[in-house]
Amino acid sequence: MAGEPVNVNEFEELAKEALPKMNYDYFSGGAEDEYTLKENVEAFKRISIQPRILVDVSKINMSTTILGYKTSSPIMIAPTGLHKLAHPAGEIATARAAAASDTIMALSFASSCTLEEVASSCNAVRFFQLYVYKRRDVSELIVQRAERNGFKAIIVTVDAPRFGRREADIKNKMIIPPMANLKGVISHEVVSDKGSELQAYVSATKDASLSWKDIAWLKSITNLPVLIKGVLTSEDALKAVEVGVSGIVVSNHGARQLDYSPATITVLEEVVSAVQGKIPVLVDGGVRRGTDVFKALARGAQAVMIGRPVVYGLSAKGENGVKTVINMLKDELELTMALAGCCTVKDITRQHVRTEHDRH
Ligand code: FNR
Repeated sequence: MAGEPVNVNEFEELAKEALPKMNYDYFSGGAEDEYTLKENVEAFKRISIQPRILVDVSKINMSTTILGYKTSSPIMIAPTGLHKLAHPAGEIATARAAAASDTIMALSFASSCTLEEVASSCNAVRFFQLYVYKRRDVSELIVQRAERNGFKAIIVTVDAPRFGRREADIKNKMIIPPMANLKGVISHEVVSDKGSELQAYVSATKDASLSWKDIAWLKSITNLPVLIKGVLTSEDALKAVEVGVSGIVVSNHGARQLDYSPATITVLEEVVSAVQGKIPVLVDGGVRRGTDVFKALARGAQAVMIGRPVVYGLSAKGENGVKTVINMLKDELELTMALAGCCTVKDITRQHVRTEHDRH
């Protein structure tokens, strides 16, 4: 691609040019037909923004608080695995970019840098994403490590009792090179040397028996707030409130797990109305523009998380690339707010967006 990238999609082009095919396919791919993968992005396009005019927008303030932590914008970094497949500096570069742009980062359980390395390399507010091990004692040790290293919340991902069928990875015979191994977070004794192969790692870690009672257990072993990632229905949102979690992430895992699960932006509103403001609702999946962030907020999300845009930035230009991607989305959001007549994130309401189903 000629010239500097001017949007997230152009960062994806650069990432594709920069990376070996196996790595790019791992980051960009989704499950099976990749129907949900496309829908996550397309569904945003079916929502239009209704601007209000003649509002004094000479000062825009995008800052907000997430679980009590002040942040420069309602954009967070989603947990994504294996950043060393994007760039040799891996999650350390991502974390530094998060700190530099005053953005909260969720570190993946499948991090290729150790949790300690990430913690000591930046002072960003960090959350830790957990997959619950078959061996609960090992999970407990990992949660303790996260606590000790200053992570501020546990995001437990619950949409992956089995590994989604990602056909590009199957075709590429995806392996995890030793430099990007998964020993950053997970325990050597559980994965042993099979940790260099994705399926072996997954079968060692994923626990298909995980259920609601385990969320109560998880809450009992930590003082950190626990969020559930992978909620797509109002019924599960209500259960999440009932078990007393501190927040929900509406997510279909970036369309990498259950294909034909709904685009997250289409179910966000029903989850938000079920939760009735009792706990914060975050959303991820398909956010590629500041206008997407605006739409998610208008539909009731407290913040959005971005997955692929971050790894594309990292692949193309390392730490600077991640910073640029975050700043691009922030600039786009700021512009959208100004053009739509919203000075603060609280000013963004349901009246600012419409779909063809809305009658106003
Ligand atoms: C992910 N995601 C993810 N989620 C999680 O809870 N733990 C993980 O280790 C990973 N790993 C991972 C790797 C890669 C390459 C991708 C693209 C995604 C899902 C991630 O947190 C988030 O839900 C999606 O990435 C959001 O969609 P977008 O922004 O990528 O469209």
